[in-house]
This record gives sequence, C-alpha cells and structure tokens, in this order.
Amino acid sequence: METISVLKKRRSVREYLDKPISKDVLEDIIDCGRLAPSANNSQPWHFLVITKKEELKFISKKATYGKFIKNAAACVIVFCEKNNRHHLEDGAAATENIIIAATSYGIGTCWVAGYNRTYEEDLKEHFKIPENLRMISIISMGYPAEDPQKQKKSLKEVLHWEKF
Ligand SMILES: Cc1cc2nc3c(=O)[nH]c(=O)nc-3n(C[C@H](O)[C@H](O)[C@H](O)COP(=O)(O)O)c2cc1C
Repeated sequence: METISVLKKRRSVREYLDKPISKDVLEDIIDCGRLAPSANNSQPWHFLVITKKEELKFISKKATYGKFIKNAAACVIVFCEKNNRHHLEDGAAATENIIIAATSYGIGTCWVAGYNRTYEEDLKEHFKIPENLRMISIISMGYPAEDPQKQKKSLKEVLHWEKF
C-alpha cells in the first residue's frame, strides 16, 4: 500500500484471525521501528517480540485495557533507556513506525498503553528486562478480523494556518 493511504486507513484493530505472521515480516516491521527518528540519534530502544500463546496470555492478563492481546498473532513491547531525556518521544516514534509498517503489510495493530502503567514492573520481571529500560508501549498484531471505522475530528477543526 502506498504510504499516504496506509496512514489514512490505519485504525486500531483488536480482533484477529488465527493466522501467524512470518518471522521475516515481523523482522522487517521491527527494522522500520529501529529506523525512527530519535533525539540526537540516540536510538535508545529495544524491541521484544512475543509470539508464544502462553506469553501473549500472560501479557493480556496484566494489561488492563489489552485483554484482546491473548488472541493476537504477536505483540511487540517497546523499551527505551530511561537515562535518555527523550526516551518517551523516541519510543513513541518507534512505536508509530512499527504500527505503520505493520499496516503496510496488511497487519492490524493496536497500541496498548505501556508507559507508567502499574504492570510495567511485572512484565519487566517476567521477561527479564534490564533495570535501565522503561516500557513505552505494547503493540498487538494480527491479520484483521474486523474493519473498525473510528470517527475522527475533521481537518478543519484542528488545522490552523499561520495563527491559531
Ligand atoms: C498512548 C496510547 C495508549 C493506548 N492505549 C490503549 C489501550 O490500553 N487499550 C486499547 O484498546 N487501545 C489503546 N490505544 C488505542 C486508542 O484507543 C486508539 O488509537 C484511539 O481510540 C483512536 O482509534 P484509532 O487508533 O482506530 O484511530 C492507545 C493509543 C495510544 C496512542
């Protein structure tokens, strides 16, 4: 799909087909994540890819608003080095790159809150994540079993030329 239509078509998908995503595709999606812009090109990120059913279930039990993760084909957890001043923005940029890359492959995603969540420590402990990393986001992934059409504000409501 062409980039502009991917950006315009993307919506959060929370229902997935029971169909795996190939390792090559997952790797290419993460490759797009690691190419995101970051402050001073610090690239403070690490990406944990989970495909095992039991582990997806574990995450879904922890993530307050991510119960649907148990039915995903995969899930990516984005971590960033916490001593980096812009770790949140950098991690968010990588998250969005991953979401857009996945959409281009016809894969549905949902960004599930990860930063400052009560379950951050539980997930870090379970997956043996180094202490210096903060969880930024969890991205569920799977071939879509729904076609959500969430309403958006109009361009007119949010676009301001030269002055507000
Ligand atoms: C920082 C952030 C955290 C989010 N956390 C959740 C979440 O925990 N659970 C969920 O179902 N969706 C979550 N979402 C997805 C939003 O609900 C969704 O993007 C929003 O409703 C707009 O819908 P759309 O993505 O289809 O355009 C999150 C999105 C962002 C950017």
